Parts: sequence; C-alpha cells; structure tokens
Amino acid sequence: MEPLILLEELTKNYDGKVLALDRVSLQVYPGEWVAVMGASGSGKSTLLNMIAALDRPTSGSVWVNGEDVLSLSEEERARFRREKVGLIFQHFYLIPYLTALENVMLAQYFHSMADREEAAQAVHEVGLEQRMSHYPSELSGGEQQRVCIARALINQPKILLADEPTGNLDAENEEIVIAIFRRLHRAGLTLLFVTHDPQIGTQADRIVELEHGRILPTFPAKALRSI
Ligand SMILES: Nc1ncnc2c1ncn2[C@@H]1O[C@H](COP(=O)(O)OP(=O)(O)OP(=O)(O)O)[C@@H](O)[C@H]1O
Ligand SMILES: [Mg+2]
Repeated sequence: MEPLILLEELTKNYDGKVLALDRVSLQVYPGEWVAVMGASGSGKSTLLNMIAALDRPTSGSVWVNGEDVLSLSEEERARFRREKVGLIFQHFYLIPYLTALENVMLAQYFHSMADREEAAQAVHEVGLEQRMSHYPSELSGGEQQRVCIARALINQPKILLADEPTGNLDAENEEIVIAIFRRLHRAGLTLLFVTHDPQIGTQADRIVELEHGRILPTFPAKALRSI
C-alpha cells in the first residue's frame, strides 16, 4: 500500500537559527490514526504546517496523496488545502458574525458551491442540530470545536489534520470530541493529530514522538494502554 503522507528528510530552520525539524522522515498509511506528541517547542506544529502546505521546509520532501506538495504553485497549494486536508486547530477560528451553519457553508463555498442541506447534515453529524443558527459567541468551547470538525469534514478530505484539537476543552467536551474522532477513524478517515492529550495518545494507532525536531523510535500505542 502507498503511504498517504510521505515525509522524507524534512528539515525546517527558522531564520537560519532555530532548527525546528531535523531530517524527519515519516509515512502515514490510509486509515491510520497517528498522534504526534512531544514537549513544547519540539516541532509538532511545524510538522503539521508542512503537511498542510501552510509553510515550506528548508529542505526535504512532502508527498500527500501522491502529490509532491512542494512543487505546487501558490494557487495549487490553496486547492490542495481545500480538497485534500481538513484542518482543526486549538483556537477555533470561526467567523464571529456567521452562524454555526454559515461557518460550515463558507468552507463549502471556497471549495465549490455552498449547499445548505449538506452543511446542515454535517452540523447534525457532530450533534449540533439544535445550535445551527447560533453565533460562535453563543456556543460553548466544545460546541465551537464541533463546528470546526463539521467544517473540516464538509469537503470530504482524505486526511484530517489537527493541532491540539482538545487543548481548550474540559473533560466532558473532550470526551464528546474524541468520540467523534473515534467514529471518523472507524469510518476509515486518516487522522494525524498533534496533541499533549494522553486520551488521544492512547486511542491512536501509533504515537510519533518528537524531541528537538527529531522523531524518537516509535512504539505501538497499545503498549501505552497496558501501562
Ligand atoms: N515562525 C517562527 N519563527 C521562528 N521560530 C519559530 C517559528 N515557529 C516556531 N518556531 C520555533 O520552532 C520550534 C518548534 O516550534 P513548534 O511551534 O513547532 O513547537 P510545538 O512542538 O508545536 O510546541 P507547542 O507544544 O508549544 O505548541 C520552537 O523553538 C519555536 O520557537
Ligand atoms: Mg504547537
């Protein structure tokens, strides 16, 4: 099987001073759930940004779904982000003057055409059918994150990328959001999450641990579960 994400010798040197990633090679296969963990400053967000084509490495290569991401023009990179990846962040980045439903429809619009029915279905799938016409300020943190999940999934991406998706949630909302991720994983979506959250770490198929921009030897997540 071909990897869905293939990183080879990825290096990122910010301003020629900070070596955030140091020759990182990684393969993620279709349907895998990978948790990227490690201390603050170890390069986790930098790694995610490279895969999402939000930033460029200093050297190395990034292949996603058979596409050489670094060879894409600016316009093609925007298309790549719209079509291939769904993105979820710790801070929600919802548009404050659009409702939950409209925030999801906006992502559709940038992809192709807004479709109210389809967006409503996505909002329903994250359990927010009663909150469709609420504005972000009228939603709890957990509900806002669920809107973000609906928005990330609306264009049927191959891969869901998340940076600390439960970082701002209390235990109850964390459990709700993780249950959604578990369902997506079972449905066959490929998940790559940067997280400090041991709950996510133990549910993933595999943990990739970064230290000073380098990957430590991997071990199966189930080994963690038995500790
Ligand atoms: N735009 C930037 N310019 C310069 N240095 C940066 C930039 N972004 C990140 N860095 C540095 O690169 C290193 C890795 O940062 P990164 O954000 O990837 O860490 P992280 O593992 O996501 O940390 P955290 O868990 O705190 O989010 C850090 O030393 C950080 O200060
Ligand atoms: Mg980070």
